Amino acid sequence: MCGIVGYVGPRPAVPLLLSNLRRLEYRGYDSAGLAVLEDGTIHILKTPGKIQRLAELVEREWPSRLRQGGSCGIAHTRWATHGPPTRENAHPHLDASGRIALVHNGIIDNYADLRRRLVARGHTFASETDTEVLAHWIGELARESDLLAALCQALRDVEGTLGIALVCASDPDRIYVARRGSPVVIGVGDQETFVASDPAAIVAHTKRVIYLDDDDVAVITPTYVDVRTIHNVPVSRAVAELEWDIHAAEKGGYPHFMLKEIHEQPESLRNTIRGRLDPAGGTCKLGGLAMEPREIAQFRRIVLVGCGTSLHAGMVGRMYFEDLADIPAYVEQAAEFRYRNPILTPHDLVVAISQSGETADTIAAVREARLKGAALAGICNVVGSTVARETGRGVYLHAGPEIGVASTKAFSSQVAVLLMMAVKFGRCHRLSSEEGAALVREIERLPELAARVLELNETIARLAERYADYLDAFYIGRGYMYPVALEGALKLKEISYIHAEGYHAAELKHGPIALLDPQTPVVALALDIPGRDKMLGNIQECRARHAPVLALITEGDEVVAGMAQDVIRLPRCHELLAPIPATIALQLFAYHVARVRGCEIDQPRNLAKSVTVE
Ligand code: G6P
Repeated sequence: MCGIVGYVGPRPAVPLLLSNLRRLEYRGYDSAGLAVLEDGTIHILKTPGKIQRLAELVEREWPSRLRQGGSCGIAHTRWATHGPPTRENAHPHLDASGRIALVHNGIIDNYADLRRRLVARGHTFASETDTEVLAHWIGELARESDLLAALCQALRDVEGTLGIALVCASDPDRIYVARRGSPVVIGVGDQETFVASDPAAIVAHTKRVIYLDDDDVAVITPTYVDVRTIHNVPVSRAVAELEWDIHAAEKGGYPHFMLKEIHEQPESLRNTIRGRLDPAGGTCKLGGLAMEPREIAQFRRIVLVGCGTSLHAGMVGRMYFEDLADIPAYVEQAAEFRYRNPILTPHDLVVAISQSGETADTIAAVREARLKGAALAGICNVVGSTVARETGRGVYLHAGPEIGVASTKAFSSQVAVLLMMAVKFGRCHRLSSEEGAALVREIERLPELAARVLELNETIARLAERYADYLDAFYIGRGYMYPVALEGALKLKEISYIHAEGYHAAELKHGPIALLDPQTPVVALALDIPGRDKMLGNIQECRARHAPVLALITEGDEVVAGMAQDVIRLPRCHELLAPIPATIALQLFAYHVARVRGCEIDQPRNLAKSVTVE
């Protein structure tokens, strides 16, 4: 995710902006830039790549007068969404007059419309970003009113999410900020004021902060903070005391990136589905796929490839395509696929799933599929990654950078994307608009569903204490819960080092049941969706071998609750959505087991975030 920092006060702004920006590096980004005010002029530098590159550029390009002089400025790290990570697309962006500079986190949903209207008035743009459109829009409005009023009006005009900071050449000691959906925090210092999208950036300077609410606008000077509504009416916002130490702040207050990313899922899912649901048409809009119904209708088979967690998401996706789109689908480990000499035709669509887009085996599978003439699509999180580029078309997750080695929020977003794809494909086959619309309404519920599972954090943490000392575990499920069993077991092994195996519940008696005993717990995925009744028998089989059973059940299902030692009660939801809440619960379970065992959760031994070798 992008990062914002700002400073106004007596000290030189540039070194402070650079060091505060570095505190946001953990979030991941692909370009950086800054703007400082000096003598009524805005000076801007920006570059693709790391903050270090920006710092070197500052050293090279700017005289010491500027480096040590300017005392008001804003800076940004950008994680590319609209347009690749180039210098042009990096923030800050200027308005048409060149007197307003803006940095922005989030996505302006109606930017295309605003851009069209600005172009009609003669505006030209230097970048592909939605942010530049917003800068121009504010600038246009500021021709006829003061900047604060123009900003308020602009915020009433734009749709989407934003956290912004803005400086104006004629206001040397002011930063204007606003938020809607994307955080902005103001740090109150002694005769100086800081701005950041994340307190991590400013906690080293002050612990006194003002959190803006959605649709707050603020004017910031070294000595005061004037907060308004978007209707330009003053409001008062309390100064809070940050309770973090600097180290914890780098993880946004969470002890581990993994826990932070698990908790981000309502937001990451919201970002994944934003602008992609079309309830009126009963379908999903996935522009990056660039596939007309005629082409979709010609696919005879869908082949999903990936590794690790992405492979498990593919296993869920496979069922979506068969259930909703009536297209035969299969899923294969990317390495197996590439070396197996697969039979492919132009009527096969190969979908490569990869959070990083840099997994060597997945890249190789894409190349093999292309060589054999199959159609290609990618599902990636990292914009501009190799899989994204080589597949040429696909769907980005927009889940924000995933730093924890054990993948969490990427999985839920991958599953959401696959579901949206299957709805879109289904609409080109037998799925009616009513059925499509009903599914779209279900997909809309995903962020709320994720939030409800996160409310179980404390309960799951307590449960984990009971399971932390075992050496082995089985995870069993059926249908949509089978890939979830594999993913739940994977999470546990990755970070807690407990030997865990995911099995289809029906496969248990074909061998693994020999291993069950009182020392081998079974995590049974027994939600009230198709397959649940058969799970009852499987749970009995485990209990008969005296294996402790932890069951994931649907709230109110006292039948299963009565059979298991322990239960995690999940909110009722549609069968197709169920993999997401169930997986989030298992992510929390694995996390807390690892925590109780004192494991290095964010740096599990032997694992890498991105496996770029075969
Ligand atoms: C590594 C990571 C896993 C991830 C897998 C695939 O093994 O540790 O968490 O699922 O790679 O990564 P990808 O970036 O292709 O999704």
